[in-house]
Amino acid sequence: MAVKALVLAAGAGTRMKSNAPKVLHDLAGLPLLQWVLDALAPIALDETVVVVGHGAEEVEKILPEGVTSRLQDQQLGTGDAARAGVVGMEIIGNAILVLPGDMPLLTGSTIRRLLDAHQATNAAATVLTAEIQPSDFGRILRNEAGELVRIVEVRDADPDELAVQEVNGGVYVFSGDLFGEALDDLTTDNAQGEYYLTDVIGWLAGAGHKVGAVVTDPVELTGVNSHQQLAGAARLVRRRINEGWMAEGVWMQDPDRVYIGARVRLSPGVRIFPDVHLEGATEVGSDSVLGPDVYALDTRIGTGSRVWYSVMRGSTVGDGAEVGPYASLRPGSVLEARSKLGTFVETKNTRLGEGAKVPHLAYMGDADIGARANVGAGSITCNYDGVSKYTTKIGERAFIGSDTMLVAPVTIGDDAFTGAGSVITQDVSPGALAVERNEQKEIRGYAARVEARKKKKQQDT
Ligand code: UD1
Ligand code: CA
Repeated sequence: MAVKALVLAAGAGTRMKSNAPKVLHDLAGLPLLQWVLDALAPIALDETVVVVGHGAEEVEKILPEGVTSRLQDQQLGTGDAARAGVVGMEIIGNAILVLPGDMPLLTGSTIRRLLDAHQATNAAATVLTAEIQPSDFGRILRNEAGELVRIVEVRDADPDELAVQEVNGGVYVFSGDLFGEALDDLTTDNAQGEYYLTDVIGWLAGAGHKVGAVVTDPVELTGVNSHQQLAGAARLVRRRINEGWMAEGVWMQDPDRVYIGARVRLSPGVRIFPDVHLEGATEVGSDSVLGPDVYALDTRIGTGSRVWYSVMRGSTVGDGAEVGPYASLRPGSVLEARSKLGTFVETKNTRLGEGAKVPHLAYMGDADIGARANVGAGSITCNYDGVSKYTTKIGERAFIGSDTMLVAPVTIGDDAFTGAGSVITQDVSPGALAVERNEQKEIRGYAARVEARKKKKQQDT
């Protein structure tokens, strides 16, 4: 028996009050829908179909290869969505797993458990349930024998039904043989005037077929219908991610204040202080220390590095390198091993060679800085003339004096020096000192002249 998955993701998500489709809202760096697709990834599925409607084109853009979409023209309810999803699908003889696209905490192991129970019991349908009260989830109704007979939505429930604690998670496996027929029989005879997928359960049970249930941790059923719920889900996901990394040997001073994206990779021995945000494909090697206050996007950090109070985007930080406090690495910054980028330094598309240092107050853009070079405070690559960008090359062991303006394109040779305050517009030979500076003049007795002027002004008024 093959398993085919239907992910329902056509809904408007009205309560998000957003132009973006609900399932594309970000949770720890991934769209909500991607969390569901990730949960499905370890399960051997014969086919995965996402039912799209609101923002269909945008949602289709994120679907991985092998996952297809079906359009639900009008959002007439979950039953109608399932009907749209099975169009053209071979369902007879197969199991159909149906789940919502807005349930990011659902895990692959729970889905596996649901499928295993379904196969083991030979049921016509198996429903994922949990004990939650109060809630706006549909209630699971059972007969005296304890058999599942029906699901009732909150808006259709009477007080006795509302008091039921067991709720419908909205995740089901259906045996395909009766599924199509049951879907065709759905009506909109309910409080919301919608085709309810939940009515398929009542239809199957009513026709004498066995419907099973698997109980799960209610946390897994956390749905996202509003920004409040999105923030709540993000908190739960954050806890799950951080506990996972701590179990892998990562130290966190305060895990409630560490924000790690789903695709980030850390090594054992990494130490993280509060208010660190690691996003995208960021990777951190062992024994590196991050924070307080670090933002890293798509950045690779080697082993034994130290980064604090800094922003890094699309950059590479080598082993044993130091960054910050207050450094900004813009895309294309590459800090080689044991190099240092210090306080109030900005780099862009720049390589800092092994052991090279830019310790304070500098801008290095489109620069190639050789190993063990030292760039003094206040130095800047003037890489832009208002039209084009040019490159600055600084040789190995070169010494750039404080407040040097390097007007690109320009090359400073290996072991060369520039004098403090120089505006360097021409290449500097290896080992030479380039000084571009007016001679210092001295006007003696100047203070006395100023004093005299002050006195005269007082007398005149
Ligand atoms: C549904 C269940 C409810 C269950 C809850 C669990 C029904 C009638 N009720 O309610 O018993 O407790 O899930 O989360 O099924 N969707 C479409 N097309 C539509 C309508 C919905 O694709 O026409 C999608 C939505 O995008 C969403 C999912 O189906 O991802 C669930 O829809 P939603 O309206 O949120 O259902 P609930 O009211 O939460
Ligand atoms: Ca919902």
